[in-house]
Amino acid sequence: MAGIVLAAGKGTRMNSALPKVMHRIAGRSMIGHVLDNLKPLKLEKLVVVIGPDMPEVAVEVRPHQTVIQQHQLGTGHAAGTARPAVGEVEGTVLVMFGDTPFVTSATLARLLARREQPDHPAVVVLGMRPRNPSGYGRLVTDAKGNLTAIVEDRDADVVQRAIGLCNSGVMGVDGRLIWSLIEQIGTDNVKGEYYLTDIVTIALDLGRLAAVVEAPAEELIGVNSREELAAAEALCQERLRQRAFENGVTMIDPGSVFLATDTRLGRDVVIGPNVVFGPGVTVGDGVEIRAFSHIEGAVIDHSAIIGPFARLRPGSHIGASAHIGNFVETKNAEIGVGAKANHLTYLGDTAVGARSNIGAGTITCNYDGFEKAKTVIGANVFIGSNVALVAPVTVGEGAFVAAGSVITEDVAPDALAVARGQQVAKPGWAARFRAARQAFKQKKGT
Ligand code: UD1
Ligand code: MG
Repeated sequence: MAGIVLAAGKGTRMNSALPKVMHRIAGRSMIGHVLDNLKPLKLEKLVVVIGPDMPEVAVEVRPHQTVIQQHQLGTGHAAGTARPAVGEVEGTVLVMFGDTPFVTSATLARLLARREQPDHPAVVVLGMRPRNPSGYGRLVTDAKGNLTAIVEDRDADVVQRAIGLCNSGVMGVDGRLIWSLIEQIGTDNVKGEYYLTDIVTIALDLGRLAAVVEAPAEELIGVNSREELAAAEALCQERLRQRAFENGVTMIDPGSVFLATDTRLGRDVVIGPNVVFGPGVTVGDGVEIRAFSHIEGAVIDHSAIIGPFARLRPGSHIGASAHIGNFVETKNAEIGVGAKANHLTYLGDTAVGARSNIGAGTITCNYDGFEKAKTVIGANVFIGSNVALVAPVTVGEGAFVAAGSVITEDVAPDALAVARGQQVAKPGWAARFRAARQAFKQKKGT
């Protein structure tokens, strides 16, 4: 068994500098979704067909092999380009599109099983009945439900256009036949392209059978435009939220919570309204994420409280029962068990020890315009409000840093550091000042 994923199309309808299959849905590229869904099938060989100016797609699909289709002459031509890489296959060659992100492995298994049935179809196509079939190729079937042709939307006549059963583009083809079928594809159609879909009638002419396996349209939709991308995103979010509910997550306003495909949420996690998860987030049991928080590339251990209005950036590890409060940003930061940073703080390239308290307005000054440096804060430290920690700097365990300090030198364990101007007291000064100003104003008025 082998697989070919076609991803060389320019994606003109997206109107984008980015290759179509690199557009993201729930934090994962479309081609990434396709490869994730193919993984459980354990194909012996998987080849991705890309365009000549798409190095980023080749990187995205690593370690899978890519072949370049120099000119985009159609899906049939694209599949043919993969021949030298795929070679001769005894079993089924699965052909998929990089812009069809949601085909599940269970549905793919059903397609492969259909190929094994006694009538042994040479081609099996996944079909669907979308609410709006326009733009999709139509599946023409005979009285027995077998496939007799696939007609592209723009080549279809009125009768064919009225068919609700559409081509998803996913096909399982007899490996011993596929290359000779593809060789016979012509360009006699409105677009003058080599349509892969033509292999159906070619197989029939050879006396072989073609069949359809139907699956829900939500699984088989293709994405060709920004509007379809947004619709696909909405569908994917629905699914991810459903999965979160099943895993024991509470979402107060689920429609305003955005998840990534790899978001891992523990049991009894409570998520407030308007929370966004970027890629690479793992959340432990019993964590509360309050409204308007933005989290990516972060691990949050059990029972921590995040937000409201918190921003956790990549490399953040929030310890168990720690509190990250409003307008607090963390990046590449190890926050210890039970530590607290509750207000208006930036913690970057930092380690904060267990139970330490970071006062409001504290900033780690981690960047000098050239390089990043590290701030290390021990356990049980108290950092007062509005402290600037100029990295590299270390504050020892149990130390106390006075509010308003600019800390440029290491602080010893259990020490007090005060780094600000000494307070000056002038008794009666304010009363004298007010009297003098009032007298001056009166004199000016008269
Ligand atoms: C295609 C199908 C249509 C089906 C629909 C399902 C054909 C002729 N049409 O139409 O029947 O209903 O998908 O979504 O197969 N590609 C290449 N090289 C090319 C052309 C395309 O690699 O020269 C790739 C694209 O990157 C894309 C896929 O093939 O991933 C499909 O191409 P696209 O242009 O999106 O075809 P549709 O018009 O959607
Ligand atoms: Mg398409």
